[in-house]
Amino acid sequence: MSFLVAIDGPAGSGKGTIAQIIADKLNFIKIDTGAMYRCVALYLLENNIEINNIQKIISKLDEINIKIDESKELVYLNNENVTDKIRQPNVSKIVSQVSSIKEVRLKLIDLQRKIASDKKVVMEGRDITTVVFPNANVKIYLDAKLEIRAERRYLEVLEKNKDIKYEDVLNNIIIRDKNDKEKEFGALKVADDAIVIDTTYLNIEEVADKIINIIKMKMKG
Ligand code: DC
Repeated sequence: MSFLVAIDGPAGSGKGTIAQIIADKLNFIKIDTGAMYRCVALYLLENNIEINNIQKIISKLDEINIKIDESKELVYLNNENVTDKIRQPNVSKIVSQVSSIKEVRLKLIDLQRKIASDKKVVMEGRDITTVVFPNANVKIYLDAKLEIRAERRYLEVLEKNKDIKYEDVLNNIIIRDKNDKEKEFGALKVADDAIVIDTTYLNIEEVADKIINIIKMKMKG
């Protein structure tokens, strides 16, 4: 039986952590679609391809092979494990711009739909409830106050990169929020039928349990 839980929201809204808790508790597969856009951004950086050279980027898309090992939460770019590399600040800096390119989106949307077919999946991103799976069984939009989101991201990155500064993370999120909400294709927005949850003052486990109850009710029919 296939069952699709789609979660969208801005950076630091808690969607990655919450999607993982849901997947673990319900034995669903969790797909982080942001990681896929990050792989494309990393490929451009490693191959010295200018972010403004759209034609070159499009011509290279067939050379970008992304694989997600959901069970081990590992991300592979052309067979290299890039799970940590894609979280580095240089990738975060350009990823939103990369995700504005229509051809990049079409390639990744296709991959996302293929991975999810016939499975029980929690997929999180920016356009999952609106574009990738507008008919998902459960649609959630998570949000939180800017400063709280920046603090969550900062603490997450700090575990791996001690040199990171809170102000840099905050500024990156401000720029990405703007890009993500204003882009022509796949902009971050609330789907008409999505359930909106503000996680600013909520405990992440509580939010996950709330969504799990919604899923269980839907599954019962
Ligand atoms: O979730 P994240 O911060 O790792 O996402 C990285 C970027 O990828 C984010 O700035 C927006 C983009 N993205 C997107 O455009 N569509 C998605 N479904 C997921 C992410």
